[in-house]
Amino acid sequence: MSQPVALVTGASSGLGKHFAEVMARQGCHVVLAARRAEALASLKAKIEADGGKATTISLDVTDDASVEAAFASIDQQGLKLNIVVNNAGVSDERPALDIKALDWDRVVDTNLRGVFFVAQAAARRMKEAGTGGSIVNVASILGHRVAGSLASYAASKAGVVRMTEALALEWARYGIRVNSLCPGYIRTDLNQDFFETDPGKAMIRRIPQRRLGALEDLDGALLLLATDAGRYITGSSIVVDGGHLVSGL
Ligand code: NAI
Repeated sequence: MSQPVALVTGASSGLGKHFAEVMARQGCHVVLAARRAEALASLKAKIEADGGKATTISLDVTDDASVEAAFASIDQQGLKLNIVVNNAGVSDERPALDIKALDWDRVVDTNLRGVFFVAQAAARRMKEAGTGGSIVNVASILGHRVAGSLASYAASKAGVVRMTEALALEWARYGIRVNSLCPGYIRTDLNQDFFETDPGKAMIRRIPQRRLGALEDLDGALLLLATDAGRYITGSSIVVDGGHLVSGL
């Protein structure tokens, strides 16, 4: 069998960078996508130094022409996608009364519209190739429950969870599975300073397991959804949050 190909969006940092390394270690040829392909050079080099295979592409998920060009480039390189990790996302913390149209659009265009059109472009190719595939949409526990000052983010992630179900229903006939992965609070370079502060520590105390997630805590769920281990799983949402969603009221 030929080497499976996995596209990871937003692969330049945080969860996406980690997901790309996990899929490369799993034996996939990883297509690393980010707005600036240059930002991906060191990750590509690291994956290749570890014996993996990686290709970089520029992709802004909010820009239709960029999505089209990125998939055209994947086609031109003869790469047939088997897996998509739809990870690119942005957050915006502000009270709902202060959200302006541009703030709303940036979050929803990236997290919901962007995820949809990347999934659609991939699914068209998977259908045509007749191979099926797996699409993992990265949502959040904010897709299932709310927190203050995150209205647009929570709405976009809830949209991802429901959209995932709709796509799973329509694309099962093509052998394409679509699931959402809903992380709780995961320690990354961007947020680790916050979790050293008093409000950050208070937040950790509200997680039943009394700790933040580590990037590696997502590996089991990612691999289950992305690979044949999850061949009968579609339209599901897997929460990985140390019990945060079931914290006591
Ligand atoms: P991050 O900011 O490090 O990564 C987001 C990535 O998406 C970056 O590489 C960024 O460049 C990329 N991106 C943003 N807009 C884009 C666009 N228009 N086109 C292409 N790429 C774009 O943040 P993090 O934490 O790694 O987040 C990754 C995903 O995980 C997001 O969807 C986020 O909502 C989700 N998530 C993160 C959690 C956490 O605790 N870190 C918890 C739950 C969900």
